[in-house]
This record gives sequence, structure tokens and C-alpha cells, in this order.
Amino acid sequence: MYNSKITGLGYYLPENVVTNDDLSRFMDTTDEWIQERTGIKERRWIDPKTDDTTSTMGVKASKIAIERAGLKKDDIDFIIFATLSPDMYFPGGGVRVQDMLGIPTVGALDVRNQCSGFIYSISVADQFIKTGMYKNILVIGSENHSGGLEKSTRGRGVTVIFGDGAGAAIVSRSNVNGKGILSSHLHSEGKHARELMLDGPNTGRWVPEIIAANDPDDESYYPYMNGQFVFKNAVTRFSEVINEGLNANNLTKQDIDMLIPHQANLRIAQFIQRKFQLSDDKVYNNIMSYGNTTAASIIIALTEAWEKGKIKENDLVVLAAFGAGFTWGSVIIRW
Ligand SMILES: CC(C)(COP(=O)(O)OP(=O)(O)OC[C@H]1O[C@@H](n2cnc3c(N)ncnc32)[C@H](O)[C@@H]1OP(=O)(O)O)[C@@H](O)C(=O)NCCC(=O)NCCS
Repeated sequence: MYNSKITGLGYYLPENVVTNDDLSRFMDTTDEWIQERTGIKERRWIDPKTDDTTSTMGVKASKIAIERAGLKKDDIDFIIFATLSPDMYFPGGGVRVQDMLGIPTVGALDVRNQCSGFIYSISVADQFIKTGMYKNILVIGSENHSGGLEKSTRGRGVTVIFGDGAGAAIVSRSNVNGKGILSSHLHSEGKHARELMLDGPNTGRWVPEIIAANDPDDESYYPYMNGQFVFKNAVTRFSEVINEGLNANNLTKQDIDMLIPHQANLRIAQFIQRKFQLSDDKVYNNIMSYGNTTAASIIIALTEAWEKGKIKENDLVVLAAFGAGFTWGSVIIRW
């Protein structure tokens, strides 16, 4: 059996910075409220005048990751694309990236696991590498949230949290034992699907029906989040699934060199940091600058931490996420 490891990382963020004060110009919110509850100071939102989309941002991040892995596009033998905000309802973003990068007709798989999207995607890539089926897999997480958020006071509980951006990782075959991706741990609890969702349009209630109803109170085509319920579940599941990953590898919290939590809320990350008694240099957060970029958040944070030299050879890196579904998971890596 082969091992798999991350050999290249990249990210791309739209240039357009939206501060909390910018938001307060079109909704009843304040910089103080947002920072106190979430830690977020600003986020990037696509400027509609640019050509940035979920797929094009994914392509820009991918080019960097492929180059850093020392590969050519033709070396990629599978694509996994995670997003909750695809350019089109179907097909998904994977095939768009395959086309835009000019990669030959390799398989392209879309993953719909929201904030856990990157964790699920890395896990799928890991299995394909370990069975020997593929050698170099391009994994992408990308989100265009700003196109679908409700930019008014009614939507403020959700809208202030989310940002746009993309990250990409190359997962490659390795023959070194005990290094690379050690394990991944995935969970879901679908009974909470309606606590964090975008309900419509769906196949039971399609666009013409929504337009015909012309109901100004219809919020179904904007994201809905039961914030406090999500928060409580997140802190519990983050802790459980990090412990599950450590236990599976006979490791303890003292072994963690770097924890990259999904950037959902700085308060959640700080809670986990305290619970695992990790010093500030062992947790990487960037939600302050980018908000919650869902499937992209862990890859962007991992790339930044690596670029800043905070992740070194042989470090134990723990990735963990929780999000809509509910779904959650962790990945344990010996770098
Ligand atoms: C969303 C979240 C920041 C909201 O914080 P909260 O402390 O739970 O706040 P609440 O939703 O209870 O709202 C408290 C008050 O602030 C108001 N409020 C909500 N959003 C606001 C905003 N952007 N600005 C100002 N006030 C706001 C509410 O209307 C409410 O007012 P009321 O008391 O008069 O009814 C928090 O619940 C959270 O982060 N949850 C988890 C989110 C998460 O992890 N999501 C992603 C998972 S992938």
C-alpha cells in the first residue's frame, strides 16, 4: 500500500476587501458586534465587474499548487472540487477546472459537504492514492458566497460571517512510511440538516414557482443558520473528532504542532485551543481577514501557515472542520 502526502498548496482571494464598516452602510450592524461575536474584521467579496467565479478562483489557486508541487498540469490524474456555491446548479466545478486548466480527460468529482468539504475531499484523495489508483490528485475548495447572501438587515446573522476565496492542494503518492496523511475521520448527522441550509430553489419548488409567488417574505433562497445551535454542536464535534484522530494514531494533544480549524468563528477556534491547551503558535487562524470561506477555509489557512514557515518537516498537523449537514471530520498529517 502507498502513502499520500500534500506536495503543493495555493490559494486565491478576490481583491475586493469588505470591512465591517462597509457592511454597516447597508444593514443594521456594527464593527463592534461582528468582532466581538466572530473575530471577523473584514472579508473578500467578489467584485462582479471582475471575472472571478467559484471555478475561476479554483483555477487560480490550482495553478499555484500544481507549480509548487513541481508538477505539470498533465501530471494530475484526478480532480476533486468542494463547494456549496458552484457556478452552475449542474455540472459541478470539477469539470470546469478540468477544462480551464486544459488537463486531459481525467475524472472530476464534486464534493458537497459545505464547511467539511476540504476534509472530506482530502480523505477521498487519500483513499485513491493509498489503493494505488492515482498518483497526483488536485483537491480544490472554492466559494462565491457573496453572490448568494442577503445584503440587508434581515440577513445580517449570516451575511456578516461569510467571505469568498479558493484554495487548492495536491495530494501525491509517497513511499515513505509514517509520514503524510496518517488518517481521516468523517461524520454526519442529517437530522440537523435544517439548522444550517439553503432550502430553495430545490426540485420540490423550482425557480418559476418562487418567481410566480412573488413573496417578499420568502427567505428560502438565502442561507439560514440557527447560529447558537450550530455553535454548540460545533465546539462538541470539533473536540470529539480531533480526539478521535489523535487516539487512532496513539497520539495525545501534547503531540499537536499545528491545529488548523475550519474558520467558522474565532470564538469556536479559541474554545478548542483552550480545551486542547494549545499555545498561540500551535493554532492558525485567519478568519479575522477573510471571514468564513467554507470549503476553502482550511486550505487557505494551511497554505498561509506553511508560507509563513509555521509548518515544518515532521510536524504533526491536525485539520478539523464542522458545518452544514451537520457534517464534521478531522485529518491527521505528519508533515
Ligand atoms: C452567528 C453568531 C455569530 C451569532 O451570534 P449569537 O451570539 O448567537 O447571536 P444571536 O443570533 O443570538 O443574536 C443576538 C442578537 O444580535 C442580533 N444580530 C444578529 N446578527 C447581527 C449583526 N450582524 N449585527 C448586529 N446584530 C446582530 C440578533 O438579531 C439578536 O438580536 P435580539 O437579541 O434583539 O433578537 C453565532 O451564533 C455563531 O457564530 N454561530 C456559529 C456559526 C458557525 O459556526 N457557522 C458556520 C458553521 S460552518
